[in-house]
Amino acid sequence: MSRKTFYIETLGCAMNVRDSEHMVAELTQKAGYEPADRLEEADLILINTCSVREKPVNKLFSEIGSFNKRKKAGAKIGVCGCTASHLGEEIIKRAPFVDFVLGARNVSKITDVIHRPKAVEVDIDHDESQYAFGEFRASPYKAYVNISIGCDKKCTFCIVPHTRGEEISIPAELIVREARKAAESGAKEIFLLGQNVNNYGRRFSGEHPKTTFTDLLKMVSDIEAVERIRFTSPHPLHMDDAFLEEFARNPKICKSMHMPLQSGSSRILKAMKRGYTKEWFLNRAQKLRQMVPGVTISTDIIVAFPGETEEDFEETMAVLEAVRFEQVFSFKYSPRPLTPAQNYPDQVPDEIASARLTRLQSRHNEMLDAMKKEREGQVHTVYFEELRPGNTVAGRSDNNLLITVPGSEELLGTMRQVRITEAGRTSHRGEVIA
Ligand code: 5AD
Ligand code: SF4
Repeated sequence: MSRKTFYIETLGCAMNVRDSEHMVAELTQKAGYEPADRLEEADLILINTCSVREKPVNKLFSEIGSFNKRKKAGAKIGVCGCTASHLGEEIIKRAPFVDFVLGARNVSKITDVIHRPKAVEVDIDHDESQYAFGEFRASPYKAYVNISIGCDKKCTFCIVPHTRGEEISIPAELIVREARKAAESGAKEIFLLGQNVNNYGRRFSGEHPKTTFTDLLKMVSDIEAVERIRFTSPHPLHMDDAFLEEFARNPKICKSMHMPLQSGSSRILKAMKRGYTKEWFLNRAQKLRQMVPGVTISTDIIVAFPGETEEDFEETMAVLEAVRFEQVFSFKYSPRPLTPAQNYPDQVPDEIASARLTRLQSRHNEMLDAMKKEREGQVHTVYFEELRPGNTVAGRSDNNLLITVPGSEELLGTMRQVRITEAGRTSHRGEVIA
């Protein structure tokens, strides 16, 4: 008899991408499944969801409806991830053809729920920090490694603490072991993942020696086979001097920093419970630019948080001017269930929110256009990871610029010197020079 097959669709953040890899590992190694090429052929269809904003949640139900029509007779559908955590059994009530619901903090139970009709596993106290997952990586060149689960912050707009539960750090020795194994099997780049990575080490589930994120960075960089380290997401509040100094000093740490601003107004930051002010953010960004020549900084910004006035928004625009972010992920505030901000007074009308978002994005595009000129002619070390159409290969520079060059498979997994020949807003063309 042929083996059973599965198909996974993954939405949302890098954490979800890694959770999907864990589910693939569990299904293939412990339950005898293999991947299907197409949804229509699969015996098991999984959708790994995101609930950070409202739109993807609404889309979920129309999407699983269409999966249900396209699936072959007898195939099962499972809803996993953050929306699974927050809606739980309501998903099966609204879409009775769904066979099981598996929360973001319960992915290790995948091989169990596939055998339990209408199972709902969404316990946010479940502890997966001991990390007993099988091994699977979508890319041989880059390895995602979780360093913590959950989030202890209580940002008032954010549903994540409710979907991923309280923050528990994974023991450093497990992280180092996993990073070493991945690097020794060819993944030169290790991507450390957590909701709030630089808060690492605050709580473990057992007795473990005190380890900070800065300590962990040193430990991972001591692994000889590791050539590059990236991480996401750090929190601006925890960007202390020791962390910035290690970031600047350690040649294996890639020189791009994600600094989620959310708002440039200290008043709004307070209402968001972000724990820092505009001045602190600017101070950290400036220090980073001074200490790390060539560093790129990316950010997340929410416009039209409840109570945001024109003056508050102008402050966000002022930070945009001051920091010159290379990448801005910007969103209209989206009220989320279970979060305090959904009940705040002065919710901003949608027309105003849209106008602010457009203004922010247009100004940022102008800034990117101005940066293009500086980029052209620059030489970067690029690690090639992906074949692209038209005989091109894409990779990232140390400071996270996406660069494509003419070439084929032999470039994959190599680091080359590349000159940027044509800079764009979000990706650049280049030529390999050595
Ligand atoms: N509305 C809009 N954006 C949000 N984010 C998180 N919660 C919300 C929300 N309720 C954004 C933040 C976060 C990113 C992952 O998603 O900017 O950093
Ligand atoms: Fe959400 Fe704030 Fe935690 Fe990030 S740090 S996951 S925004 S609560």
